[in-house]
Amino acid sequence: MTQVALITGGASGIGLSTAKLLLSKGWKVAIVDVNSAGEQSCREIKADFYKANVGEYSSLSQVFQQVWHNRAVFANAGIVEKLDFYEAFNTDLPPVIDVSVIDINLKSVISTSHLALHFLRNNRVSGGNLIITSSCGGIYPIIYLPMYASAKHGCAGLARSLAKPALQLGIQVNCICPASVSTGLLSKDEWDEFGQDHTPVENVARVVGNILEDESYVGQVVEIVQDKHFRRPPPEHWDSAMERVIKRTEAMSKL
Ligand SMILES: NC(=O)c1ccc[n+]([C@@H]2O[C@H](COP(=O)([O-])OP(=O)(O)OC[C@H]3O[C@@H](n4cnc5c(N)ncnc54)[C@H](O)[C@@H]3O)[C@@H](O)[C@H]2O)c1
Repeated sequence: MTQVALITGGASGIGLSTAKLLLSKGWKVAIVDVNSAGEQSCREIKADFYKANVGEYSSLSQVFQQVWHNRAVFANAGIVEKLDFYEAFNTDLPPVIDVSVIDINLKSVISTSHLALHFLRNNRVSGGNLIITSSCGGIYPIIYLPMYASAKHGCAGLARSLAKPALQLGIQVNCICPASVSTGLLSKDEWDEFGQDHTPVENVARVVGNILEDESYVGQVVEIVQDKHFRRPPPEHWDSAMERVIKRTEAMSKL
């Protein structure tokens, strides 16, 4: 049976490059994106396109229902905040802060992951993969984009936390943390700030492809920079009391 990958945010950048790689390996690809311009790119590469906003549960879940026999879910759609967190205001209160980057980059990733576990575990195909796109901002602080970094840290925490229970359902959960990849995410001026330090988008796609083919990836947070990638272990327990606390939470899991 043909393997199907559902890719959110697949109309451009990392998602599109991953779609091309998987198609070249014989996968069928369903792309979910809010940008209808992506329909044309999908037609060109022979992927199926579903217009949906990952932030709207009803449209996202409808796509999952339509792409029922998926074997892999790549929760990749993302944005960056456009505001300056540090802006000063000469008013009693600052205006309500726009936290849509948390809605899309974390809350929607949680919904996508929840749907992925539901559909992958009920799948007729045995096994499955959920890969979440975090960022180097999920490992390091990003002063320029503090809310983005918060969401991406959340993505890494989600992948690590889901990994063991999901494996009991035959599902591998991992996340990728790319460094600067020149895509539609930032403006040209912003990308120019990184000088030569760019990570080719095809390298990120190749790591995603490797994860899908390698059963040893479970709960990995994979840092990707230029042509290199590293598995980032979680921090060591500070002492034996902390180790016992964390072990208890594992035992408390319902799965
Ligand atoms: N480019 C980088 O340097 C970099 C580094 C680390 C992580 N990332 C992450 O990689 C992922 C992909 O980004 P990219 O760099 O390929 O940028 P991109 O802008 O080229 O691609 C993001 C895609 O997500 C789609 N999208 C945005 N909001 C959506 C929504 N609400 N519903 C559905 N689709 C939506 C966009 O239309 C776009 O096609 C993002 O999660 C981003 O945070 C990017």
